[in-house]
Amino acid sequence: MLMASRITIGPFVPEDFGPVFCWMNDVAAARLDFAYRPVDMMTHQRWWQSLGRDQTKVVFAIRKTADLAIIGYVQITGINSVHRSAEIGIRIGEEKNRGRGYGKEALRLAVEFCWNHLNLNRVQLVVFKHNDRAIRAYQAVGFRKEGLLRKAAFIGGDWVDLILMAALRPAQRASRRLPASTAAKGVAATGDLGSTRHPVAA
Ligand SMILES: CC(C)(COP(=O)(O)OP(=O)(O)OC[C@H]1O[C@@H](n2cnc3c(N)ncnc32)[C@H](O)[C@@H]1OP(=O)(O)O)[C@@H](O)C(=O)NCCC(=O)NCCS
Repeated sequence: MLMASRITIGPFVPEDFGPVFCWMNDVAAARLDFAYRPVDMMTHQRWWQSLGRDQTKVVFAIRKTADLAIIGYVQITGINSVHRSAEIGIRIGEEKNRGRGYGKEALRLAVEFCWNHLNLNRVQLVVFKHNDRAIRAYQAVGFRKEGLLRKAAFIGGDWVDLILMAALRPAQRASRRLPASTAAKGVAATGDLGSTRHPVAA
């Protein structure tokens, strides 16, 4: 389990199955995240059973410190050992828990996990252009806007622009792992060929 001041991120427990199933079927949240399609119980069960088996994916439950109830999840997907890149997505399940700083804390922990435990160089995501809260949360933990994908998604009857954002491994950590000759030339060990697949639950 990884801990911040007010939240932790760690493994799922059986009690999380129900809340996550409900959040994946939340139409209002889907308007901020992906094209809505109902997730049936069998599909949800297959996804649940894949957790921990698929080496290209790490999904953490988000909980308030000292509270077992799940409040959301953050997932790292498409982990690529050649490009040392991945995609990230996050959901705080209920509106009452949003806008309180929990998302930023969880993202910060998950991104640090990407550098320190997965040894990645780049983490990216796409976010709907109108999702100001998510963009602010991503920017607060080091993601930068890299591009605009015009009318790239059809959500709830409207075409939506997507913003591509990415965070690169902090330079100090990158150079520490490079041979001295390469680091002296200032060459950054970044992989920038990750896909732009939308970070929705598989
Ligand atoms: C996006 C999400 C994960 C962010 O987590 P959160 O806990 O709500 O966000 P935080 O409170 O940590 O940070 C939100 C940031 O946006 C700002 N903010 C809060 N409410 C806002 C609002 N209604 N509109 C715009 N900005 C807002 C905060 O001030 C903060 O920015 P700051 O650090 O510059 O002050 C969460 O809101 C969520 O799950 N939303 C629904 C699903 C979704 O949008 N997922 C992302 C898909 S890419």
